[in-house]
Amino acid sequence: MSNNTEEMLTQNVLASMEQTANPRLKMVMTSLIRHLHAFVREVELTEEEWALGIQFLTKTGQMCDEKRQEFILLSDITGVSMLVDAINHRAADGATENTVFGPFYREGAPELPTGATISQDGLGDPVVVTGRVLSTDGTPIPYALLDIWETDENGLYEQQDPEQPEMNLRGKFRADDKGYYCFVGIKPVSYSIPDDGPVGQLLKALGRHPFRPAHIHLIVSAEGFVPVTTHLFVKGDKYLDSDAVFGTKDSLIVDFIRHDSAEEAARYNVTAPFYTVKYDFFLRPL
Ligand code: BEZ
Ligand code: FE
Repeated sequence: MSNNTEEMLTQNVLASMEQTANPRLKMVMTSLIRHLHAFVREVELTEEEWALGIQFLTKTGQMCDEKRQEFILLSDITGVSMLVDAINHRAADGATENTVFGPFYREGAPELPTGATISQDGLGDPVVVTGRVLSTDGTPIPYALLDIWETDENGLYEQQDPEQPEMNLRGKFRADDKGYYCFVGIKPVSYSIPDDGPVGQLLKALGRHPFRPAHIHLIVSAEGFVPVTTHLFVKGDKYLDSDAVFGTKDSLIVDFIRHDSAEEAARYNVTAPFYTVKYDFFLRPL
């Protein structure tokens, strides 16, 4: 143990953790050290690169506050968030696929009546979203809850933008007794994740852009079922193949159908042009 040569070092660190009481902690830390050491050996990390890495992580921490979580952003742009999501929500059983939660959810969105709009400022083109919430066996789930959030037409979430009303573009909707739901949002736009910090600098250095394809966020839940945290993506968006946070999944890409008729719009209590989307959500019983 005392001879900490390049050859012996990994073994010595692993041996130092032998007495760890918590077996899961021991397993995770053993694997982490193995991979971390293997990485340092593989790239033959220089002292300058080590210092740069420390500086980068320090700045990442310093960028965090109640409104900004730069470490989650780092996890997102490296695909770690989606890998954790994929491992924890393996959906081979026909349930709606999960995707990244993101940092812009807020608790306490208002519960709105079926067919109401979540837009308080009236900006953007309305989209009427309808469908059903069903069990994976196809039976309707009565009174499921849909918790929805999206950016305004400027690509900013309400808490990023002092011009937007409190809780703008957020709302909760209940499906009816046969599982039908309906809400009005706005056609989402593609937008940049926050790129004015160390994560943005890293993206630039890697020759990557910071954009996400247009999407609406939803958490769909019902008693007795596994909730799903997901998105509806806009078919045809130019960033679908290069989402900065690797959140896209084919099953979540939907047609936003454009309508120009003012009479049709009036039926939904919206203005033309407007869009419609149909999508059924499938939840797995607990
Ligand atoms: C979002 O879609 O809100 C989001 C997800 C990951 C990182 C940044 C934003
Ligand atoms: Fe988003």
